[in-house]
Amino acid sequence: MVSLFTLTWRYLLAILSVFVVSNTAFSDAYQDYKASPNGETAFEYLHQVATHPRCSNCHGVMDGGVHRPTVGDERRPHPMNISSANNLRLTVENHHFVQVPNSTQPVNCRSCHQNKNGASPGMPPGAANDLMPGFVWHMPPPTMIVPADISPTQLCANWLDPAKNSFLAFRGSRDDMKTFEKEFVHHVSDDPLIRWAWNPGPGRSPAPGTHQEFVTAMQLWIDQDAPCPN
Ligand code: HEC
Ligand code: HEC
Repeated sequence: MVSLFTLTWRYLLAILSVFVVSNTAFSDAYQDYKASPNGETAFEYLHQVATHPRCSNCHGVMDGGVHRPTVGDERRPHPMNISSANNLRLTVENHHFVQVPNSTQPVNCRSCHQNKNGASPGMPPGAANDLMPGFVWHMPPPTMIVPADISPTQLCANWLDPAKNSFLAFRGSRDDMKTFEKEFVHHVSDDPLIRWAWNPGPGRSPAPGTHQEFVTAMQLWIDQDAPCPN
């Protein structure tokens, strides 16, 4: 026979487990930022987005000395042995991004990744827009790799490190917050590859929150002097 004591105990355990589970769900960087938006919570949310597979897959991983994009929520190796050897090199001409002549392999990102997402799961995703014409699907230099386990402190330091720049645009630094804001607020608000993370096509989970919330959090973090967590 089940005693009243056992029943009460089970009841308490059930309540306890519900509490623990919901408590974990609430210690989510996006929820914390929404509940209390400030420079610190904003950066934790930016870190949550940047380490999400929709963002970090294209920034890639170092795999046996080779820089490669990854796919899926598990960050599997990109099919067909694709690496930065298949990347496109872009430059800017009259406010348009154009390919550096003779910089492109016969098989490159654009052979498969077009201006729009493929119609069914497993097909190559794609993105482009008129805000940044010519900024097509390609991967950044290896200085912009975002490891899955990167700490918020390290990501913050990387973003503000001018040595982790690309050949394409100056990113500024703590000493040049004007350029930093231009790159990190205005650029991320228009960038079709960033926007794609919230419109990733069939079968892929989007980045947390919305693109607009991401841009707003970036602006708030920079307005509050871009504090890095310690
Ligand atoms: C399809 C590929 C792709 C995806 C998806 C992508 N990025 Fe990038 N990202 C790039 C490329 C390429 C660059 C480098 C541009 C350059 O050469 O300056 C870059 C650069 C950056 C930079 C550095 C900016 C600078 O000038 O220093 C940040 C920050 C960044 N991405 C964040 C994100 C976030 C956050 C997401 C998801 C919301 C994301 N990226 C999704 C390709 C991608
Ligand atoms: C031969 C065709 C082909 C080429 C070339 C190619 N890709 Fe892909 N890519 C695919 C296919 C197909 C998928 C979808 C895989 C899936 O969803 O399982 C994909 C998926 C991806 C994803 C995964 C998105 C996600 O979050 O799951 C990224 C990032 C990516 N490719 C980047 C690149 C980059 C960068 C290049 C150039 C350096 C490139 N790809 C070249 C076919 C290609």
